[in-house]
Amino acid sequence: MTTQQTPSNAASSPARGPSGHDVIIIGSGAAGLSAALVLAERLRVLVLAKGTLESGSTAWAHGGIAAVLDAGDTFQDHIRDTMIAGAGLNRRETVEFVIERAPESIERLIGMGVPFNREEGEIHLTREGGHSHRRIVHVNDATGWAVQAALLKAAEENPNITLLPGRACIDLITGRHEEKYSGSGRVWGVYALNQDTGEVETHVAPATVMASGGAGRVYQFSTAPRGATGDGIAMAWRAGARVSNMEMMQFHPTCLYNLDVKNFLITEAVRGEGGRLINPRSGQRFMEAYDPERMELAPRDIVARAIDSEIKRFGLDYVHLDISHMPPEFVKTHFPTIHEKLLGLGIDMTTGPIPVVPAQHYTCGGVLIGLDARTDLPGLWAAGECTESGLHGANRLASNSLLECFVFGDAAARDILACWDDLDSPPPIRDWDASRVTEADEEVVIKQNWTEIRRFMWNYVGIVRTTKRLERASHRIALLGQEIEDYYGSFRVTTDLIELRNLHQCAELIVDAALKRHESRGLHYTLDYPEALPEPRDTVLVP
Ligand code: FAD
Ligand code: SIN
Repeated sequence: MTTQQTPSNAASSPARGPSGHDVIIIGSGAAGLSAALVLAERLRVLVLAKGTLESGSTAWAHGGIAAVLDAGDTFQDHIRDTMIAGAGLNRRETVEFVIERAPESIERLIGMGVPFNREEGEIHLTREGGHSHRRIVHVNDATGWAVQAALLKAAEENPNITLLPGRACIDLITGRHEEKYSGSGRVWGVYALNQDTGEVETHVAPATVMASGGAGRVYQFSTAPRGATGDGIAMAWRAGARVSNMEMMQFHPTCLYNLDVKNFLITEAVRGEGGRLINPRSGQRFMEAYDPERMELAPRDIVARAIDSEIKRFGLDYVHLDISHMPPEFVKTHFPTIHEKLLGLGIDMTTGPIPVVPAQHYTCGGVLIGLDARTDLPGLWAAGECTESGLHGANRLASNSLLECFVFGDAAARDILACWDDLDSPPPIRDWDASRVTEADEEVVIKQNWTEIRRFMWNYVGIVRTTKRLERASHRIALLGQEIEDYYGSFRVTTDLIELRNLHQCAELIVDAALKRHESRGLHYTLDYPEALPEPRDTVLVP
């Protein structure tokens, strides 16, 4: 935890919030901390995180970070691979903006001490689906953990950054919460539940950055951590920001199939280093029938759909991912974390196959932002998985996500610094009003609704969709909405209730967006509109 000091070269205006902070950042993952470290050069920053500081997806990332570092590789190739994976829905200017900044992002991480794997002194590059070159820098098979640790260490050592874990943000503070009600969409910070005391705190500052991660937990099976409940997307939407392409939910092809361990990812780099997908019934590699050229290294949407199709056609529980034809030492040194974890479950990946299934993995859609990371709402910037920046389009290319966090965390910070002197000082803000709520009487309602949403999202809004299934989901969402809002209006907020309300909001946005897209493109595949339309169009939802 940091001490509080006044930055020596702090900007003179606007006035800080009552707690003495210039900028509030919601989220302590790659996006939030990247922004914090740049902002702290001049400003005093407060970082809020739900649960622990390492609870986001960043710490869970396996494969690595995509960057053009090899002499035989080019920005043009990385851009082309990203656009092919994204089925043309990407915004080219964003793709260029991010990919051209990848090498400097890696340099910064090296400067912070991230121990990327090297071979003979050179950074080792692994390969993943959809990449035409080896271009994934990594720290064994636990890259995210090393990145999270380095960013956190730098933030903890920075006297201008205050880290506050255990804060579940509830709603953005806008003109509706000013003591002199203005009703404007200007964002002044956030109301947050202190998860230790149960009190709701009011955090106010001239600028707020949303970096709260994805909404993966809206699905029954997901590789994402427990807190990935789309809180930031839902908060921004409720405050009046547009969200885009929420139907583009990415399913990772290879999550471990295990009745006890439900969300352990088997990194795509296993296929990148030679792993084969095999139908356990026939014993045959099956990707040839789906993408004969790229086989196991086709983009994720294609591989996930192929596995889903094999599972359904043959009535299987899982397919096999097999890398046991490679030398055992090679497997152990490239994938030490996975090897160790699987051994503990009785699976030796050096001698036999791993049972795998697809699971939700990444939220491609989110709060709409520009290259300066600005949202529609004055005073609110956003970065990372909670956003739709135009990078991923209809399907994210592997290992482009951490990269997006670094680039847009940095972009948000630089834009705030650039416009700092023009920002207004926060007006007096009303505290959270809990006078009309009581203690919850039946917490089972939350559990029941949470389970129900995640089940029907998996069954009706999954890898292969139909209009009928989407309409069924939409109907269920409408019914649950009333119940959840009644509950929210009557009882004291808890983390579970906050998350349920946000999961429900995100489910609604996903289904609404999916119903609006009358084509199959990238991750949105519907039997009712199997072809892609000639022109790619974003699905932009307006509050
Ligand atoms: P996160 O890292 O998810 O952080 C979100 C932060 O917001 C957390 O601090 C959380 O506590 C906070 N937060 C959330 N809600 C609230 C709230 N209501 N109030 C306060 N704080 C809140 N990408 C790659 O590029 N390469 C990979 O190899 C890779 N592997 C992956 C493996 C797995 C298993 C998973 C799940 C994802 C992987 N990804 C990978 C994707 C990548 O990890 C994420 O997209 C990225 O880390 C998101 O970073 P973020 O900063 O946007 O959010
Ligand atoms: C993986 O290691 O397969 C995940 C990479 C990613 O999600 O980008």
